[in-house]
Amino acid sequence: MTDKLAGKRMVAVSGKGGTGKTVSIAMMARALIENPSTGKLLLIDADPACGLLCALGIEARRTMGQVREEIIKTARSRDNKEPDSDAVKKLINDKLDYLSFEALIEMDDFAVLAMGRTETMGCYCPVNSLLRDAIKALSSGFDTILIDGEAGLEQVNRQVVKKLSTLMVISDPTSRGIETAAAIKQLVEVDDAMAVDRLGLVFNRVRGAEDVLESRADELGMDLFGMIPFDEAIAEFDLVGRPITELPAEAPSLSAYRKVIEDYVLA
Ligand SMILES: Nc1ncnc2c1ncn2[C@@H]1O[C@H](COP(=O)(O)OP(=O)(O)OP(=O)(O)O)[C@@H](O)[C@H]1O
Ligand SMILES: [Mg+2]
Repeated sequence: MTDKLAGKRMVAVSGKGGTGKTVSIAMMARALIENPSTGKLLLIDADPACGLLCALGIEARRTMGQVREEIIKTARSRDNKEPDSDAVKKLINDKLDYLSFEALIEMDDFAVLAMGRTETMGCYCPVNSLLRDAIKALSSGFDTILIDGEAGLEQVNRQVVKKLSTLMVISDPTSRGIETAAAIKQLVEVDDAMAVDRLGLVFNRVRGAEDVLESRADELGMDLFGMIPFDEAIAEFDLVGRPITELPAEAPSLSAYRKVIEDYVLA
């Protein structure tokens, strides 16, 4: 069987809550769009609590979760009974291409897919399995795929994506951020939760103490992919709800992300 993901750049971010995962995806997208080696770019908002679309200033038409609900509703009224979980699985599988393309938002320079929430079950598991399916259905049309994940270890733990070219753990300059990074490293490298070609750490919102952060990364045994300075403009844009992607081209945080993508995404 040929590996559909061979030759693709599949990049995900992970890390403690609020460290800047969503901002990082938006900024990397901005940097990737400027670079012709990116090819076709797909961004996936895999955090059930939406965020990436707002950071990009895009309104979701329908999320994968919503299209999934509609498919189930149609089957329910057609058959006049609640489909069981095997029936739901088959339905979704049969309509996967429709489902993914229906939820895909195509912009001039990239496409975005929002997973959203699934309402029928009180847990996120269906979202995670939808994410797996969406990647299967859409990956052949894209060269570079960035995934904005939920906070914590859940998606790494559940092996939502089995194979990544790059996993970036985003940490703020705090012990808790670094401890989460250590736990993610353990999951990937010791517990084999995911096959990752390149695993590394990005310190975000850095305001000095770079040498301390470098030695913390060293102690962890993690590659330090980059340090992104605290950028007042990011905080301001976020405050007024202006898309992060409209930051000025010379923003120092954007230059730092440009270097990260050149060295660890496109290289
Ligand atoms: N380099 C930066 N400089 C200044 N502020 C930043 C920077 N990066 C992120 N922020 C701010 O930090 C906050 C959290 O960012 P973001 O929403 O990207 O985190 P997250 O990791 O995606 O959070 P969650 O875990 O809730 O999904 C936001 O208010 C954002 O504006
Ligand atoms: Mg987020």
